[in-house]
Amino acid sequence: MIHYQDRWAIVTGASSGLGRGLAARLADRGMSLVLTGRNEARLDEAAHQIQRATPRVKVETVTADLSTRSGLSALLDHVGDRPIEVLVNNAGFGSYGAFAEADADREDNEVAVDVSAVITLARAFLPGMIARGSGGILNVASAIAFQPAPYQAVYGASKAFVLSFSQALWAEARVAGVTVTALCPGPTRTGFVDALGADVGHTAIYRRLADPEPVIEAGLRALDKGRAVVIPGVRNKVVAISGRFMPPEWLTRIAARLLRPIGTALRPPIEVRNETVIHASAERVWDLLTDVEGWPSWYRACRWVRMESTGSAASSPGAARPVSFRWKAHPVVLRSTVIAAERPHSFAIDADAMGLHAERMFTIHPTPDGLSSVVISHETQVGPVARLGRVFLARRLRAANQAMFDDLARAAGRGVATQATPAALSSHRVVLTSR
Ligand SMILES: NC(=O)c1ccc[n+]([C@@H]2O[C@H](COP(=O)([O-])OP(=O)(O)OC[C@H]3O[C@@H](n4cnc5c(N)ncnc54)[C@H](OP(=O)(O)O)[C@@H]3O)[C@@H](O)[C@H]2O)c1
Repeated sequence: MIHYQDRWAIVTGASSGLGRGLAARLADRGMSLVLTGRNEARLDEAAHQIQRATPRVKVETVTADLSTRSGLSALLDHVGDRPIEVLVNNAGFGSYGAFAEADADREDNEVAVDVSAVITLARAFLPGMIARGSGGILNVASAIAFQPAPYQAVYGASKAFVLSFSQALWAEARVAGVTVTALCPGPTRTGFVDALGADVGHTAIYRRLADPEPVIEAGLRALDKGRAVVIPGVRNKVVAISGRFMPPEWLTRIAARLLRPIGTALRPPIEVRNETVIHASAERVWDLLTDVEGWPSWYRACRWVRMESTGSAASSPGAARPVSFRWKAHPVVLRSTVIAAERPHSFAIDADAMGLHAERMFTIHPTPDGLSSVVISHETQVGPVARLGRVFLARRLRAANQAMFDDLARAAGRGVATQATPAALSSHRVVLTSR
């Protein structure tokens, strides 16, 4: 049972977002407030606004960093031995990125605010509530608490702690008429995302943000009803519940996919290696391989690509030579660049299309008699279709590359290929463009 009228509530993280809204709603219920935050100006502004809206309640502020002992002591000293009816453990922040590359100090602070401060304040005020037989604690956890959070590993684990801790205290305190509720919001439009210190707009999780008001209402309603856990929003509920029926590996892999940073492949790239012997000197093979105008014939060997060349054999050496590619089903833009060239031994090209990045290294080893060459193509592809590629494309790519090598061998035998401009190739970028 919670008595709101003329009782005291503490709200941490009241200078912004959910904490500020929760404080305002508690004031509406007649509660006097002790508000904390680090940003003094914003905290004062929040306090003044609440005071103006609800003049009958008292509003006090304590500027304190709750990741420090001194910050926690400042708050506890300010409150003294006055009875606290409601404690809202809301202050918190997250971070984003691979754990191996994370800022250790920031993550230590995160645990100090998101976990240790929650324990310290619960320890300070729960015994009084139990002794009086009334009161409640609202701990702001997160919907992330229901599954591991790759790329937010420390934050996710901290919120899982808050969820578990709250549920345990709920069971212990309810017999005394005191409630402890974990509020588990999904991504919500507050200062939280900005405070992550990293761009997360590309992630499936943070692309859509909910309004804070329904989250605040849901939290206070659950506290009223003595609920142990509340997950605002149907989508968040479904995600939280569906995780229970999945093997942990599946759940974590899905979470990783939803949170992964740009450019992070979940799996190793597709790798395709072809090796062939061509009865021609290394110099001759180099000339053929680096003959940009010869490329279309190789790519035509891939059955799923129809090539339309706009390149001109007359284009001056050293100039980029546009060649247009058109996929059978999809018009795509493919740009290819020679990124390294070492005559006559090796050269590498890279290409980007539809978010897929491919790099291919050709190496040419002359046989000891110098009459033949061993040609190796090593290709890696990374991109959104990597999984599909591994299953479906890799074999076809290997076959297409082999067909390309067969073409090359035939060209070497007949000596029909255009003489390339290898010197120019090694010093300029070749760009292939398609519409
Ligand atoms: N918004 C979301 O998407 C979301 C989702 C799930 C859970 N949550 C949780 O909701 C709670 C409230 O966050 P919010 O969304 O309202 O974000 P917010 O607008 O950034 O508010 C965070 C609050 O926490 C305070 N705070 C942060 N570090 C602190 C520290 N070291 N000492 C004292 N106060 C500190 C901030 O105060 P100063 O700015 O004054 O330092 C601010 O008042 C957090 O626990 C967060 O983890 C948020």
